[in-house]
Amino acid sequence: MSNEWLDTVVDARHEATSRIVVLDLVGSDAVELPEFAAGAHVDVLVDGVAGLVRQYSLCGPPHDRTRYRLAVLAETASRGGSLGMHRLRKGDRLRISRPRNRFKLSDEARRHLLVAGGIGVTPLLAMAHALEAGGAHYELHYCARSRADSAFAEELEHNPHVRLHFDDGPDDQRFDAATDIGRPDPGTALYVCGPGGFMDFVISRAHEAGWPPEAIHKERFTPVQDTAAHAADGTFTVRLAKSGGEYEIKEGENILDVLLAGGVDAPYSCQQGICGECVVRVLAGEPDHRDDILTDRERADGLFTTCSSRAHSPVLELDL
Ligand code: FES
Repeated sequence: MSNEWLDTVVDARHEATSRIVVLDLVGSDAVELPEFAAGAHVDVLVDGVAGLVRQYSLCGPPHDRTRYRLAVLAETASRGGSLGMHRLRKGDRLRISRPRNRFKLSDEARRHLLVAGGIGVTPLLAMAHALEAGGAHYELHYCARSRADSAFAEELEHNPHVRLHFDDGPDDQRFDAATDIGRPDPGTALYVCGPGGFMDFVISRAHEAGWPPEAIHKERFTPVQDTAAHAADGTFTVRLAKSGGEYEIKEGENILDVLLAGGVDAPYSCQQGICGECVVRVLAGEPDHRDDILTDRERADGLFTTCSSRAHSPVLELDL
């Protein structure tokens, strides 16, 4: 968990829809905020209470270091995070981490196809700002239940690179994966962000159309369902190469929880398989990857998420 927090102040707040609040944060001492690249998120210490940490994408223009913009959906099953964010008012203080990024624009692509579902538009908005500023070739498809549910429709509707798709709108404006994603094209990168069901749909259609996995970039806003915490699997041992400590991971436990309970200074943030902060290297044993963050290449390179993955082998040795 990051312990380097930045002090910010809510400089502007507006309710973009009945469930989405948009917050502009500035540095509390008027200094410039750290630089970030499109696709980045920050951890937010909600209500200033250690332990209630949530991740939100930065959705403003990445070149603007005077403020960070967040958009927060009030979750119906909120455990306090999103509702705490909705309670913030202009002038309130908020501690955030420095930006982190596991959802970057491809340096190699000549064309960028951005597909957003609902609040998943936030990191893609920052990407659109960056691509626009760089004169890049891009297209943003923004899908929402209705215009009333879409926080950024007004801002985006006159942008010639943007297509809005509303579930309750006429057929000819609905999102159609066959035409809106189309067939893969070397040099085009596809970026997908939104609720799990939306992402599964878009990514499976892209695979069916022949898009190679390395051309598909994704970020989930909801935890992967099949995480280690829910799995009923056998016991295995995690061995830590640096300290020599060994920890037994029983059915239904996850590695990160056991390590933290044992006082190990393991990296982490979301604990939900979303942020990638807990990634460490496997030195020995056979990992059972259950995250939705690492690419095949990263897994082949030995990277591993302790909050959501397990082991197939009786012992898994980690570079910790
Ligand atoms: S702590 Fe965020 S992915 Fe593991």
